Amino acid sequence: MASSAPIEKLFTWTRPGRAVAERFVAGDTLESAVTVAHALNEAGFTVSLDLLGEEVTDVDSAHAAVDEYSSCLDRIESDGLDANISIKPTQLGLAIDESVAREAIALLGQQAAEVGTTVTIDMEDSRYTEATVRLFELGQSQTANFGVALQAYMKRTPEDLERLIPLGGHIRLCKGAYVEPEEVAIQSKGIVDAAFIQQMRTLMSADITIPAIATHDLRLLAVARELAGMRTAPFEFQMLYGVRTDIQRQLVAAGFPLRIYLPFGSQWYPYLTRRLAERPSNAWFFARALFSSS
Ligand code: FDA
Repeated sequence: MASSAPIEKLFTWTRPGRAVAERFVAGDTLESAVTVAHALNEAGFTVSLDLLGEEVTDVDSAHAAVDEYSSCLDRIESDGLDANISIKPTQLGLAIDESVAREAIALLGQQAAEVGTTVTIDMEDSRYTEATVRLFELGQSQTANFGVALQAYMKRTPEDLERLIPLGGHIRLCKGAYVEPEEVAIQSKGIVDAAFIQQMRTLMSADITIPAIATHDLRLLAVARELAGMRTAPFEFQMLYGVRTDIQRQLVAAGFPLRIYLPFGSQWYPYLTRRLAERPSNAWFFARALFSSS
């Protein structure tokens, strides 16, 4: 439902719509993201700055996204933020041509290395999985400061883990946020959870790769905490800004490293639809606010 144009207008043009977005997004500008990132750092979290935007279809827009990320890295350095960046391959031109995204990976990897931070490549839908894995391989071969998200629901993920763990860097394990066909992705929630546990065990027993366990699922977090107790090499938890802030605070209070994925920018609607799909009660919150304001 959220993918229809009238619903998009309701979210983007109404106060209740923007109020729902503000729960999950730091604001429209880099400045607003930097302000929130400082507050998160002070509260004990590290941060991953995510400029919203995806499926870019012209080279100029892809270059503009690289410039914006470059400004992010400048601010991470000048403000002394404990932060890295998360990038989406199609925002950097992957849907136009892989060479455009490869150029962006090289530029951002180089600048991030100079700043002393890392770059995580988000995983988008299955049309881009193989090319995204290749971008991670490229980044690691050039500047060795990359990470990539792998989705537990994808049937290929056990093989991707085997392929990528020897390359080091960091691997973010998440359940997967896109609607995928049965041929490529597990459809049952229970089986996705079991796959997540299996893949998390593989990742948490890897030495040179830094596991980033990205979930708000209490059952999976309990298993992760058990595995963390046996791990001597670094790892971290990752969670989305605005989601289960109670658990976020508890993990940090218990001494676990936790990175908050912090989206900002004006192109927030596709991101918001994924957050609504994960939790339909978010949409009810919006609907109630809309009716009470009219
Ligand atoms: P699940 O959906 O079962 O939720 C567990 C609990 O968390 C819920 O019961 C609820 O309490 C809370 N919760 C979860 N989502 C919520 C929401 N939207 N609003 C309110 N409460 C919510 N996906 C992808 O395909 N590619 C990627 O690159 C990334 N990157 C990424 C980074 C980080 C840091 C995180 C945490 C997640 C991603 N994801 C992602 C999204 C991921 O694939 C998945 O869709 C969401 O994390 C929701 O799954 P959970 O594991 O939290 O479990």
